[in-house]
Amino acid sequence: MKTSVISVLLVLCTILLSGNTINLGDNGSGIVKYPPVSTFKSSCARCHGPQGASFGEDFGKLPQRELERFIRLMMKGPGGLNPNKADIDAMIAYSQALAKHRPFIFITSADTLTNIISYSGESLPGTTLSLTSQGETLQIKTGKDGKWRTGPVAPSGHFIFIAVDKTDTVRLEPGKALWTN
Ligand code: HEC
Repeated sequence: MKTSVISVLLVLCTILLSGNTINLGDNGSGIVKYPPVSTFKSSCARCHGPQGASFGEDFGKLPQRELERFIRLMMKGPGGLNPNKADIDAMIAYSQALAKHRPFIFITSADTLTNIISYSGESLPGTTLSLTSQGETLQIKTGKDGKWRTGPVAPSGHFIFIAVDKTDTVRLEPGKALWTN
């Protein structure tokens, strides 16, 4: 198919807002109720700083099982949340990105009209995010809080989100996973 898969139809953006929501799947462990970046901001940052800025050095060295145990405890305890396994897994993945100073991408939803789709989600604030498909790249503007929404794209495309920061690059393929690991 020659037609550009990433067609930026900004005029349709507003109409899109009333589109249907595609079921993005559940990463095998339930639907995420608490998107990790905004949840960290609202439920964790008051003690651990924005994006975990006040975590100590040891945070990055926590063994995987300890980290998981802490996240579970923290979400249910001081976080005051009622997480399912997917929520916990997503927060673990985000925390690992924070610990390793790696970019992070999380897809919240995919809204559709007949022939277009628009993804929204959140990523680590300060990362440069883009969406590529068959050699074409669409830059995605992210808010200060890391929230983003793509322009309308053709749902038939083979998309890959790419997030880049000073040190690293991560990729995420919608349909395969909802967040980067
Ligand atoms: C009321 C303050 C408070 C809130 C809110 C809070 N935490 Fe904690 N957190 C702590 C304290 C205190 C410790 C150290 C506890 C210990 O060592 O036993 C800790 C430890 C941790 C650790 C272990 C790493 C380390 O440096 O000790 C992780 C990971 C963590 N918290 C994640 C979270 C997450 C994710 C949230 C939000 C869901 C959260 N915390 C909310 C106070 C808080």
